Amino acid sequence: MSAGEAAVVRELGAADAAQFQALRLRGLAECPAAFASSVDEERVTPVAEVALRLRAQPGHCVLGTFRRDTLVGCIGLERERHRKLAHKAFVWGMYVAPEARRTGVGRALLVEALRRARAMAGVRQVNLGVNAANTPAVALYERLGFVPFGVERGFMLVDGIAHDEIHMVCALG
Ligand SMILES: CC(C)(COP(=O)(O)OP(=O)(O)OC[C@H]1O[C@@H](n2cnc3c(N)ncnc32)[C@H](O)[C@@H]1OP(=O)(O)O)[C@@H](O)C(=O)NCCC(=O)NCCS
Repeated sequence: MSAGEAAVVRELGAADAAQFQALRLRGLAECPAAFASSVDEERVTPVAEVALRLRAQPGHCVLGTFRRDTLVGCIGLERERHRKLAHKAFVWGMYVAPEARRTGVGRALLVEALRRARAMAGVRQVNLGVNAANTPAVALYERLGFVPFGVERGFMLVDGIAHDEIHMVCALG
């Protein structure tokens, strides 16, 4: 995928489980301070269990972008399950492989996640959390209409080092 080539985004399903897990483990290894989960926690997950998590469910989807047949980017979207919180969805697990970055993949994934959130009847806002030092991700989120509403000091400890988290929200008009 080169700059200028439109990134095609589609929902991942059970058949994508092995590729999704491989990309996710790559992201967790490359950017331990960008995700709450870790390689050690996820590498033992059987592909069959990943496939179950990728099955179609209302209020939940994982989206991916492929370069030829290889998954190069992913994002999760999930609606809150409690009734009183069901006007909210959140995105998680945004990751673009280094060789595909700065070509619009991240933007395309987030645009599609927001489109799907808007299509969920009653969802009014999308929330996310991002490491305060993650300048590329914060820039991407702000470009697509997310605004910060708080900073959690010491949100995450990675190898004994504390990382602050910015909580952001995108109001769906
Ligand atoms: C953050 C990330 C998802 C961006 O993906 P990407 O495909 O490179 O982003 P895009 O090419 O779609 O860029 C969209 C916008 O994001 C911003 N952006 C992306 N990378 C940036 C960088 N390195 N520096 C500054 N802004 C950046 C820009 O505003 C850009 O718009 P522009 O190209 O018009 O300037 C990617 O860098 C990544 O996977 N990082 C590691 C994992 C991670 O941090 N995930 C987020 C967890 S919350």
